[in-house]
Amino acid sequence: MSGQRARLGVLVSGSGSNLQALLDASGQEGFPAEVACVVSNVPTAFALERARKAGVPAVVVDHKAYASKADFEKALLEALRAAGVEWVCLAGFMRLLSADFLAHYTGRVLNIHPSLLPAFPGLHAQRQALERGVKVAGCTVHFVDAGTDTGPIIAQAAVPVLPDDDEKSLSARILTEEHRLYPLAVRLAVSGKVTLDGTRTRVDAQATVGELSLRSPGAPR
Ligand code: GAR
Repeated sequence: MSGQRARLGVLVSGSGSNLQALLDASGQEGFPAEVACVVSNVPTAFALERARKAGVPAVVVDHKAYASKADFEKALLEALRAAGVEWVCLAGFMRLLSADFLAHYTGRVLNIHPSLLPAFPGLHAQRQALERGVKVAGCTVHFVDAGTDTGPIIAQAAVPVLPDDDEKSLSARILTEEHRLYPLAVRLAVSGKVTLDGTRTRVDAQATVGELSLRSPGAPR
């Protein structure tokens, strides 16, 4: 069974709560992917502990240890290849990947971002949302291209912004949805229901609305 599941390499830089959501999903019967390795560019990232606890190989590839971005990415690729990784999931990974790197995994690199893209790409998305006074915030899983949070969108989830929200409370509400959304998006992508088609996403006509890629407070779960 496990041999038929897509092998995920999860790239992290921090706490790894989205990694945890993917590890938990991997443990569920019928989930079409498993976490084959975790790579962190930050040696102290708590995500590494989560991986070790789950019995998943955890590797540090510290960008500061390499003379160039190309050397760093070469080491990343080697770590992923050594683990037989087929799909790459960025989960709070705070480095931009080059087009050269991405070409090794075309259509198979996913990222989660804490905003309803294309609004608020880059750092501090939740703060940006509060500063602009939006009433609906959320998160997005998208295919990765060489831009900053610009790739074609796979799935989104919305949350309300409440009058008393600060960055912490809004981030926590979004994060709860991230943990539901990332496994859903991985399922859609590795099962071929949502694929990268040039610069767009293509949705399989067989996919039903219920399993699809929009989650909002009023939408069916
Ligand atoms: C998450 O909110 C994720 O969406 C965000 O970093 C956090 C990582 O949390 N990613 C980005 O902002 C990428 N642009 P985690 O380490 O607990 O999963």
